[in-house]
Amino acid sequence: MKTTLKTTLKSLVLATAILSSSTLLADGASIYKKCIGCHGVVGEKVALGKSLVIAEMSEDELNKSMNGYLDGTYGASMKALMKAQLSALSKDDISELSTYITTFKK
Ligand code: HEC
Repeated sequence: MKTTLKTTLKSLVLATAILSSSTLLADGASIYKKCIGCHGVVGEKVALGKSLVIAEMSEDELNKSMNGYLDGTYGASMKALMKAQLSALSKDDISELSTYITTFKK
Protein backbone atom coordinates (compact mmCIF):
# COMPACT_ATOMS: atom_id res chain seq x y z
CA MET A 1 0.00 0.00 0.00
CA LYS A 2 2.74 2.39 1.04
CA THR A 3 4.76 1.63 -2.07
CA THR A 4 1.77 2.19 -4.32
CA LEU A 5 1.24 5.63 -2.84
CA LYS A 6 4.91 6.47 -3.30
CA THR A 7 4.81 5.37 -6.91
CA THR A 8 1.66 7.39 -7.53
CA LEU A 9 3.26 10.46 -5.99
CA LYS A 10 6.40 9.98 -8.05
CA SER A 11 4.49 9.82 -11.32
CA LEU A 12 2.44 12.85 -10.29
CA VAL A 13 5.60 14.86 -9.69
CA LEU A 14 6.96 13.70 -13.02
CA ALA A 15 3.75 14.60 -14.85
CA THR A 16 3.75 18.07 -13.30
CA ALA A 17 7.35 18.62 -14.37
CA ILE A 18 6.59 17.61 -17.95
CA LEU A 19 3.47 19.79 -18.03
CA SER A 20 5.18 22.91 -16.70
CA SER A 21 8.10 22.64 -19.11
CA SER A 22 5.71 22.54 -22.06
CA THR A 23 3.57 25.48 -20.91
CA LEU A 24 6.34 27.88 -21.96
CA LEU A 25 5.68 27.55 -25.68
CA ALA A 26 1.97 26.84 -25.19
CA ASP A 27 1.55 30.20 -23.47
CA GLY A 28 3.21 32.11 -26.31
CA ALA A 29 0.96 30.29 -28.75
CA SER A 30 -2.22 31.04 -26.84
CA ILE A 31 -1.37 34.72 -26.33
CA TYR A 32 -0.46 35.04 -30.01
CA LYS A 33 -4.02 34.09 -31.02
CA LYS A 34 -5.16 37.68 -30.53
CA CYS A 35 -2.35 38.96 -32.77
CA ILE A 36 -3.26 36.81 -35.78
CA GLY A 37 -5.90 39.18 -37.14
CA CYS A 38 -3.28 41.84 -37.86
CA HIS A 39 0.05 39.99 -38.05
CA GLY A 40 -1.09 36.74 -39.70
CA VAL A 41 -1.07 33.12 -38.50
CA VAL A 42 2.72 32.88 -38.82
CA GLY A 43 3.60 36.58 -38.49
CA GLU A 44 3.79 36.98 -42.25
CA LYS A 45 1.63 40.10 -42.70
CA VAL A 46 2.42 43.79 -42.69
CA ALA A 47 -0.12 44.66 -39.98
CA LEU A 48 -2.57 47.36 -41.13
CA GLY A 49 -0.11 48.16 -43.92
CA LYS A 50 2.27 49.64 -41.33
CA SER A 51 4.29 47.13 -39.34
CA LEU A 52 7.42 45.16 -40.08
CA VAL A 53 6.91 41.49 -40.93
CA ILE A 54 7.41 40.14 -37.41
CA ALA A 55 8.29 36.62 -38.62
CA GLU A 56 11.52 38.13 -39.96
CA MET A 57 12.55 39.71 -36.64
CA SER A 58 15.06 38.16 -34.23
CA GLU A 59 14.08 37.21 -30.70
CA ASP A 60 16.09 40.17 -29.41
CA GLU A 61 14.37 42.62 -31.79
CA LEU A 62 10.96 41.23 -30.81
CA ASN A 63 11.65 41.63 -27.11
CA LYS A 64 13.06 45.13 -27.57
CA SER A 65 10.19 46.33 -29.74
CA MET A 66 7.42 44.95 -27.52
CA ASN A 67 8.98 46.12 -24.25
CA GLY A 68 9.65 49.42 -26.01
CA TYR A 69 5.98 49.88 -26.93
CA LEU A 70 5.17 49.44 -23.24
CA ASP A 71 7.77 51.86 -21.89
CA GLY A 72 7.44 54.35 -24.76
CA THR A 73 10.96 53.88 -26.19
CA TYR A 74 9.93 52.19 -29.46
CA GLY A 75 7.41 52.59 -32.22
CA ALA A 76 6.19 54.52 -35.22
CA SER A 77 2.86 56.19 -36.05
CA MET A 78 0.74 53.35 -34.66
CA LYS A 79 2.67 52.66 -31.48
CA ALA A 80 -0.29 53.56 -29.25
CA LEU A 81 -2.27 50.76 -30.86
CA MET A 82 0.48 48.24 -30.13
CA LYS A 83 0.88 49.51 -26.58
CA ALA A 84 -2.80 48.77 -26.02
CA GLN A 85 -2.36 45.25 -27.44
CA LEU A 86 0.43 44.49 -24.99
CA SER A 87 -0.66 46.38 -21.91
CA ALA A 88 -2.20 43.35 -20.17
CA LEU A 89 0.95 41.26 -20.62
CA SER A 90 3.86 40.72 -18.24
CA LYS A 91 7.56 40.75 -19.20
CA ASP A 92 7.47 36.96 -19.04
CA ASP A 93 4.49 36.84 -21.41
CA ILE A 94 6.41 39.06 -23.84
CA SER A 95 9.50 36.91 -23.74
CA GLU A 96 7.38 33.81 -24.31
CA LEU A 97 5.68 35.55 -27.25
CA SER A 98 9.08 36.49 -28.71
CA THR A 99 10.29 32.90 -28.43
CA TYR A 100 7.09 31.67 -30.04
CA ILE A 101 7.23 34.18 -32.92
CA THR A 102 10.79 33.10 -33.81
CA THR A 103 9.42 29.60 -34.49
CA PHE A 104 7.73 31.12 -37.59
CA LYS A 105 11.10 31.58 -39.33
CA LYS A 106 11.53 29.26 -42.27
C1 HEC B 1 -5.11 45.81 -34.56
C2 HEC B 1 -3.95 45.27 -35.24
C3 HEC B 1 -2.81 44.70 -34.41
C4 HEC B 1 -2.89 43.73 -33.43
C5 HEC B 1 -4.11 42.99 -32.92
C6 HEC B 1 -1.52 43.50 -32.99
N1 HEC B 1 -0.65 44.30 -33.69
FE1 HEC B 1 1.39 44.32 -33.50
N2 HEC B 1 1.49 45.90 -34.76
C7 HEC B 1 0.41 46.48 -35.41
C8 HEC B 1 0.88 47.70 -36.07
C9 HEC B 1 0.02 48.63 -36.91
C10 HEC B 1 2.26 47.82 -35.79
C11 HEC B 1 3.20 48.98 -36.16
C12 HEC B 1 3.11 49.99 -35.00
C13 HEC B 1 4.01 51.20 -35.09
O1 HEC B 1 3.63 52.17 -35.76
O2 HEC B 1 5.09 51.17 -34.44
C14 HEC B 1 2.62 46.65 -34.99
C15 HEC B 1 3.91 46.37 -34.55
C16 HEC B 1 4.29 45.22 -33.89
C17 HEC B 1 5.66 44.79 -33.61
C18 HEC B 1 6.93 45.54 -33.98
C19 HEC B 1 7.16 45.52 -35.47
C20 HEC B 1 7.44 46.89 -36.03
O3 HEC B 1 6.71 47.29 -36.97
O4 HEC B 1 8.33 47.58 -35.54
C21 HEC B 1 5.58 43.61 -32.96
C22 HEC B 1 6.74 42.75 -32.47
C23 HEC B 1 4.18 43.29 -32.82
N3 HEC B 1 3.43 44.28 -33.40
C24 HEC B 1 3.71 42.17 -32.18
C25 HEC B 1 2.35 41.97 -31.88
C26 HEC B 1 1.87 40.95 -31.00
C27 HEC B 1 2.76 39.92 -30.32
C28 HEC B 1 0.52 41.10 -30.92
C29 HEC B 1 -0.46 40.30 -30.07
C30 HEC B 1 -0.25 40.39 -28.64
C31 HEC B 1 0.15 42.19 -31.78
N4 HEC B 1 1.29 42.71 -32.33
C32 HEC B 1 -1.16 42.60 -32.02
C33 HEC B 1 -0.89 46.00 -35.41
C34 HEC B 1 -1.39 45.06 -34.55
